Amino acid sequence: MCGIIGYVGNKKPVPILLEGLRRLEYRGYDSAGLAVVDEDLNLHLRRVSGKLHNLEEAVRLSPVDGWYGIGHTRWATHGRPTEENAHPHRDSKGDIVVVHNGIVENYLALKQELEAEGHAFQTETDTEIIPHLVEKYFQGSLEEAVRLAVGRLRGVFAIAAISRLDPGKIVAARNGPPVVVGLGEGEYFVASDVPAILSHTRDVFFLHDGDIAVLTADGVRLMDLDGRPVKRQVSHILWDPIMAEKGGYKHFMLKEIYEQPRAVRDTILGRVGQESGRVFLDEMQIQPKEFAEFQNVRIVACGTSWHAALAGKFMIERLARIPVEVDYGSEFRYRDPIVNPNSLTVLISQSGETADTLAAQREAKSKGSRTLSICNVMGSMISREAAGTLLTHAGPEIGVASTKAFTAQLTALFILAMYLGQARGRQTPEQSQDLAQELLRIPAKLEHVLSADAHYEDLVKWLFKATDFLYLGRGIHYPIALEGALKLKEISYIHAEGYPAGEMKHGPNALIDESLPTVVLATADPEDEASVLRYEKTLSNIQEVKARGGKVVAVATEGMTDVTRSADHVIWVPPTRELLLPILEVVPLQLLAYHIAVRRGCDVDQPRNLAKSVTVE
Ligand code: F6R
Repeated sequence: MCGIIGYVGNKKPVPILLEGLRRLEYRGYDSAGLAVVDEDLNLHLRRVSGKLHNLEEAVRLSPVDGWYGIGHTRWATHGRPTEENAHPHRDSKGDIVVVHNGIVENYLALKQELEAEGHAFQTETDTEIIPHLVEKYFQGSLEEAVRLAVGRLRGVFAIAAISRLDPGKIVAARNGPPVVVGLGEGEYFVASDVPAILSHTRDVFFLHDGDIAVLTADGVRLMDLDGRPVKRQVSHILWDPIMAEKGGYKHFMLKEIYEQPRAVRDTILGRVGQESGRVFLDEMQIQPKEFAEFQNVRIVACGTSWHAALAGKFMIERLARIPVEVDYGSEFRYRDPIVNPNSLTVLISQSGETADTLAAQREAKSKGSRTLSICNVMGSMISREAAGTLLTHAGPEIGVASTKAFTAQLTALFILAMYLGQARGRQTPEQSQDLAQELLRIPAKLEHVLSADAHYEDLVKWLFKATDFLYLGRGIHYPIALEGALKLKEISYIHAEGYPAGEMKHGPNALIDESLPTVVLATADPEDEASVLRYEKTLSNIQEVKARGGKVVAVATEGMTDVTRSADHVIWVPPTRELLLPILEVVPLQLLAYHIAVRRGCDVDQPRNLAKSVTVE
């Protein structure tokens, strides 16, 4: 995730670009840069590694001025967060520059093609191929060259390009990540998000996928990928600046819940072949051969990440048939864990800074284990100390209660499980293809789950006064029950417990009465016999709760309607494979916790007594 900005108009561009980047810094802060064209048609570039203040300092030490320009703040994906890899990127002659948010999946093939045609590349990034492609197609019109270039890109992108050879113009294009265009008086803006331009204009429109915008000081022109003119509806933004940073959502947590389709899509991108089903983990320093030889896997994490680890155990054991043990970071060292060079230790951490998880990583390494991190922050301690990192591309998570990082972790674990399964010859190509295709459908299914948000407010009317909750699940759904209970506890301060559904009769049934709501994960893959069997057992557990006067909210699979006979309320999610259901079914639990907490007047984004990064043991 990165932030892009562009300005053309009658004011000096550099302060406007820097201010816009400041408001986009939440989208990434590994490096930053800007490019401006001056009145004499010279192109000036400033790029730095690290946070935006480094760019401000670079501009202070080496001032730059111009007529119009573009800027970027980076969340590194392809290529390390160095100055060289910072945007804007240039073509061969330095006449065309581009800023980019997204991932170009086919960049290696395009790079080879361009190299064969004599283009020389300076960086490790996927982005650099874009200015070179624009150069290839440039015949005097920047928009025409950008149109032809983006037609060659596979993957997701939001870009802005300028060229001293076709001056006074910014050309922007979108396929995936957001792009907003701001309309001022004789000045026009383009950005990844509204807050970046809100202090200059409130009249905006959003590009749709496949739109190309041409901004000049005289106005904005829009066309599609075939060059046909298109029109978009202008909106007048009424948000205050804080609201704007939250993208119009009331809380960061809600915004992050809604970002999950994108977070999951970005975590899959470039790693799973759509047709072949093959998984590519090029970022690992661990060789594929080594993956085939590990005798066991240890997963260590804390809190929500630990719940992802528990679900990951099911995924890895099922797809790769390697024994997996899961530990809390804070407990790992206290049982003299049996790890050795035959063990792969996987550390899961959103922040990459959690002290307990880091200490466990060091313990595992001291015993000779190779460590791999699943982490949301590139360059964090845990990822730096690991032999390889599977980066979750959830983007910065600001709400203290983890949501999008969790579903991105589940996605990364599924990818890792597929990879291990393939490395160990445990999957047929048909099985890999089926799993890959189902995985690729998850973002759209998440959109579908999120589209039902409206009925939660009604549902919580009878739930928000409860003082205790139970969450039940079987198999891979038990960790999700734990996660649902944790979400509710941490943001609403209601006592909640997650339990394996089958364990109720061994004690906790005694708690059940009409004042105790029970949330049951009763989803299933209708095409999987074992999954349906597990679901049927869960239905019996619902009946046991009902027989004792309890109230049941079930999360169930569309089309499997038996559950409506016993549950008081059902929240539906689309069907998918058993191992992927957790990614869908946790979302209703997040929304439930969120709406209950809001109804109770709690500080959802910053719950009492908690911190986002726990850097003490
Ligand atoms: C709960 C939550 C915490 C974190 C835990 C580990 O919503 O966010 O339980 O999951 O503190 O943090 P990371 O993943 O950064 O290691």
